[in-house]
Amino acid sequence: MFERLEPVVPDSILGLMAAYRADPDPRKVDLGIGVYRDEHGDTPVPASVRQAESALIARQTTKSYIGPAGNPAFNQALEQLVLGAKHPALTSGRVRTVQSPGGCGALRLGAELIRAASPESVVHVSTPTWANHTPLLAGSGLRLERYPYLDAATGKVQFAAMMESLERLPARAVVLLHASCHNPTGADLMQSQWRELLALISRRGLLPFVDMAYQGLGDGLDEDAFGLRLLGAELPEMLCAVSCSKNFGVYRERTGALHFIGSSPAAADAALSQLVRLARGIWSMPPDHGAAIVQAVLGDPSLRAQWTEEVTAMRSRIRGLRREVVEHLRQHCPQRDFSFIREQRGMFSFLGIDTSQVRKLRERHHVYMTDDSRMNMAGLRRGNLEYFARAVAEVLKA
Ligand code: LMR
Repeated sequence: MFERLEPVVPDSILGLMAAYRADPDPRKVDLGIGVYRDEHGDTPVPASVRQAESALIARQTTKSYIGPAGNPAFNQALEQLVLGAKHPALTSGRVRTVQSPGGCGALRLGAELIRAASPESVVHVSTPTWANHTPLLAGSGLRLERYPYLDAATGKVQFAAMMESLERLPARAVVLLHASCHNPTGADLMQSQWRELLALISRRGLLPFVDMAYQGLGDGLDEDAFGLRLLGAELPEMLCAVSCSKNFGVYRERTGALHFIGSSPAAADAALSQLVRLARGIWSMPPDHGAAIVQAVLGDPSLRAQWTEEVTAMRSRIRGLRREVVEHLRQHCPQRDFSFIREQRGMFSFLGIDTSQVRKLRERHHVYMTDDSRMNMAGLRRGNLEYFARAVAEVLKA
């Protein structure tokens, strides 16, 4: 039976990760997969996470099942981190949370819930969006369409075009939004734009589905949640997929959650029962370890303070690199304006070169970024900034 299967090319981001690992050149620069890197090019386990993990292993006496909704203490701690402890949706008892295998699991679970409730609803994603949104969401059977997002000329959000497109959507259409640190563009909505978007979503009766994978890596833990907190406070319903991979550095532990806000506590209970059934049919129960660590960090005031500092350090490093790379590019490629990189947020920006130039960077200079020229800022460091800027200058000249 399986001899009929054709081989498929790997996902562009994962393919790049493998190619980078296989490259023996010591000058190689990895701006591909979105993992945080420090000044040595490592992706460390934050000290707060390490400490929580050691204590957890010492005290854990069983690995028996927890249940399809996951660890209730983790779910509650994450709700408070994401929404803020006194958020009106929480105080009115309308939030339900299911722990998931990473943000990916939460995205798929949310899509499955939408499909169960409204199979004809279409999910509208930004142009561009994270490559894996398509298989994760469309894999549920829902149809996907696109709305304009990035203005390539300015590196900013094409907000008028985005609003015009969303204004035409029918009620119950789903709008996938990035909470902050938009992947792959780094272009985020301003607070005033979130307010305008809220008015549109409310007027049109749309459902926001917010993906939050980088809380703390843009402007701050609270600042990065501004938009989703606003929508969640004012609208009757919202879905939010959260990943702990990046801000807690627990990538391979597959730690995340889906937060559901319902129009009433009873509606939220009904949705939770559906979510539990759906999760049971896909992965049965989520992995425990990463969530137990995150809960231990968030639940201990001193570990939490330490973690907050560690997130601040990650964010400052990325923002510093944004400033520095713009300066190096200005020196080596004075004919081109890269200042938009400084204004954008999170790990990613498009360098704005074409695919053949991206390939030249890879083949001649061992600089790895996805074909659309998305670069992970955290892969830069003081020691390779100059090399990187010279390589870009050469490719632009050729
Ligand atoms: C990325 O966009 O590179 C990350 O979110 C990692 C992934 O799984 O694609």
